[in-house]
Amino acid sequence: MENFKLWNGVEIPAIGFGTYKSTVEEGKTVILRALEAGYRHLDTAAFYGNEELIGESIKDSKIPRDQLFLTSKVWKTWLGYDNTIKSFEESLKKLGTDYLDLFLIHWPAAAGHMYEDPKATDQSTWKALEDLYESGKIRGIGLSNFLPHHYLGLMETAKIKPMVNQLEFHPGYTQQAAVDFFQAQGIVVEGWSPIGRARVLDDPLILKLAEKYGKNPGQICLRFAVQRNVLPLPKSSSVERMKMNQEVFDFQISEEDMYRLLTMPQTGWSGEHPDL
Ligand SMILES: NC(=O)c1ccc[n+]([C@@H]2O[C@H](COP(=O)([O-])OP(=O)(O)OC[C@H]3O[C@@H](n4cnc5c(N)ncnc54)[C@H](OP(=O)(O)O)[C@@H]3O)[C@@H](O)[C@H]2O)c1
Repeated sequence: MENFKLWNGVEIPAIGFGTYKSTVEEGKTVILRALEAGYRHLDTAAFYGNEELIGESIKDSKIPRDQLFLTSKVWKTWLGYDNTIKSFEESLKKLGTDYLDLFLIHWPAAAGHMYEDPKATDQSTWKALEDLYESGKIRGIGLSNFLPHHYLGLMETAKIKPMVNQLEFHPGYTQQAAVDFFQAQGIVVEGWSPIGRARVLDDPLILKLAEKYGKNPGQICLRFAVQRNVLPLPKSSSVERMKMNQEVFDFQISEEDMYRLLTMPQTGWSGEHPDL
């Protein structure tokens, strides 16, 4: 599998496994199966409530820690300097590790509707990430669901430029202005819900392209992200789909078809927006 590179030189496997909702019912087995299916990059968050299961699955897999890329995130009700440090330490403990590969602010403070001064809250949260990064406890720090206006406020006091921003990204919701903006800053954009939580899989254009390229609709969505230089984080509970979702490096979507996908009518949007 190919890698994306952060501006500080750290490499991330080009497909990450999304773990949202891989919780108790599906349990550890889903994460273990994903590791067995070849994933080495796991995306979690304090909010997902599955960090302990992930830690146990990693232990059971016997895969050395340095062969894994682990991302977690601080939740929007835990922002600010002190809470962020506590949240990070808690994530480490639950995951059973002494460092993270990537730590993100899950949503800008504006999305929490509980902070008097969202910009100052984002700035102090970022300062905590910078200090953790400088102390060597994280290999990369970044954002999630930040739009350019949130980022510009953060950068008024930031010392270190974020390395990643994780945004909703799939055919039918590509956030072109934000993706262009962050990529122009040299920030890697990761795509959450890269197959639109399965809501875009029966779209006529996606079905037509799946037939044309001899791939399944999910693979069209993931290849589309990779060709747009967006790192996709698909989630699946089926071993077959976990494997298929990594097999997207043996075909190329044409330029015309990329534009068809980039300009299709909006569909499959989660309805989540940081300012709503
Ligand atoms: N930063 C954020 O705010 C944020 C928000 C949401 C999500 N995320 C991250 O992004 C990850 C992925 O997003 P998501 O879970 O919302 O959605 P997603 O990966 O776009 O879609 C997952 C759904 O698609 C199905 N699926 C997966 N591969 C398929 C394929 N090849 N063909 C047909 N169906 C397929 C899965 O069903 P099966 O399980 O049955 O295969 C599941 O129902 C999350 O797990 C999380 O890590 C981040």
